[in-house]
Amino acid sequence: MLNDSVIAWLKITLGVKSIELTPINGGANNLGIKVTSGNQSWFLKSFNTQSPNVKYKQQNEFLFSQEVYRNCLTATPKPIAINLEENVSLFAYIEGKKIENACNNAVQQAILFFQNINQREPSAHLNIASESPSTLAEFSHIITNRLKRLETVTIKSEQLNVDYHKALTLIRLRQEKLTSNLAQHWQKEQQRSVLSPSDFGFHNAIEASSGIYFIDFEYAGLDTPWKVFADFFSQPAVPVDLTFALEFLKLEQFRLLKENPEDTLKVFELTQLKWCLIMLNEFLPEVQARRAHSWNISCLNERQQKLQIAQLTQLKQCYDYFESIPNKISGLDKLLRD
Ligand SMILES: Nc1ncnc2c1ncn2[C@@H]1O[C@H](COP(=O)(O)OP(=O)(O)O)[C@@H](O)[C@H]1O
Ligand SMILES: [Mg+2]
Repeated sequence: MLNDSVIAWLKITLGVKSIELTPINGGANNLGIKVTSGNQSWFLKSFNTQSPNVKYKQQNEFLFSQEVYRNCLTATPKPIAINLEENVSLFAYIEGKKIENACNNAVQQAILFFQNINQREPSAHLNIASESPSTLAEFSHIITNRLKRLETVTIKSEQLNVDYHKALTLIRLRQEKLTSNLAQHWQKEQQRSVLSPSDFGFHNAIEASSGIYFIDFEYAGLDTPWKVFADFFSQPAVPVDLTFALEFLKLEQFRLLKENPEDTLKVFELTQLKWCLIMLNEFLPEVQARRAHSWNISCLNERQQKLQIAQLTQLKQCYDYFESIPNKISGLDKLLRD
């Protein structure tokens, strides 16, 4: 699971003679390992070196964790040490469980977390969050870029190919309709005025007896309030009901969104389209390669079959999500008007 050099580094860093390692399931991409010595435990995140910009993501996560930990000790695991050579980071171990439902109490804690990390002016030394749009128009450019990449994919199965390209067309047409007549101010620079964990949601949280801890800051950084809001309510992993949207919009950081409901609706719908496309990442050759690598299946046919099942599942999710968009838009529209 880990090479000798990582094990030696762990023992020196922790000041212990022996350690026990237990893999943890639940990560989207990387390997999580519980490190135990005597009655003490730590969490080791071993980064997938096949994923792009892995060093940057590892460093960014550690930097952001340190900043968050300094500002609100109880909302994120303490970052302990980073080893860039071996692609591993060490954190305090949080005993807790997964969050399956975004209930009222959980959402209140997420709001509190956001408020806490944004109590002060964000430190300028932090990075810009991944895919952070600098104008409202960029919410659409992100879709254009993702579509461009996804359109080059070749799919062997004829039926899958047809259904896949049909989905891309539906998304493109909707994007064109939404952006056919953009107001001038959509080209105006937006301030990255808030700190955002980026991949913010209850799929990246641990419910401990003392409260919820937020984790996984690879993409975190300075961001616009537009993106924070739209992503938080678009995340498909543990969906958050839109009835909580007003509680976010009450915060000073989201004043612009409250004052410009038409822009908010459009940004939200574009973000929902982006999430449809994220679901189709499963079709990208580099993602397929990473999957095949992590499954470690030597039989070519079996591997091919498993990949296709994963793709079918993602395509179905994409269609279901796409169909659910109009309801969400009218729900948010109503909330913003009330
Ligand atoms: N400090 C921690 N203590 C205990 N478990 C953790 C800790 N950090 C992460 N985990 C567990 O490991 C999983 C993967 O961590 P995460 O940072 O989300 O990785 P990934 O980038 O692969 O999604 C989490 O879902 C959680 O179950
Ligand atoms: Mg995660």
